[in-house]
Amino acid sequence: MALLPILCYPDPRLHTVAKPIARVDARVSQLVRDMLDTMYDANGIGLAASQVDVHERLIVIDVSQERKQPLVLINPELVWTSEATHLNEEGCLSVPGIYDGVVRHDEVHVRAWDAEGQSRTIEANELLAVCIQHEMDHLMGKVFVEYLSPLKRNRIKTKMRKAQREDAR
Ligand code: NI
Repeated sequence: MALLPILCYPDPRLHTVAKPIARVDARVSQLVRDMLDTMYDANGIGLAASQVDVHERLIVIDVSQERKQPLVLINPELVWTSEATHLNEEGCLSVPGIYDGVVRHDEVHVRAWDAEGQSRTIEANELLAVCIQHEMDHLMGKVFVEYLSPLKRNRIKTKMRKAQREDAR
């Protein structure tokens, strides 16, 4: 089991746009395992490779109660989004302790490769749909706090920087 360090907002590396993965090889399989270990260890429901400073289009998710239903999405693309949207409270392993509302599509269809490199389409709603949209934003270099007002975002930046200074002591 390998735990990867998670980048914390406002680390500029979180704004890197991820590149597609050409093939699922041993390196990618190891990254998937390490990201799952890291997500479960941090009690997260989703983790994008961007958050562990690997700028490739890979996300891992598990929204199950039992934390035993890992979902691996490689090169995910949204193929359909519902018109209906909802305000949901979100948090992020890269912005610890901060929760705020973001408007997301209620339902999305996403096409992606699974951990074996097989292409499939997932129809997601509720928490899974929110999580997929949140993690896919990470791959575009976008952190959820960027949907909030500049005032809120600046407060969060200040708070995060202060916490990181205290951690560094
Ligand atoms: Ni996040």
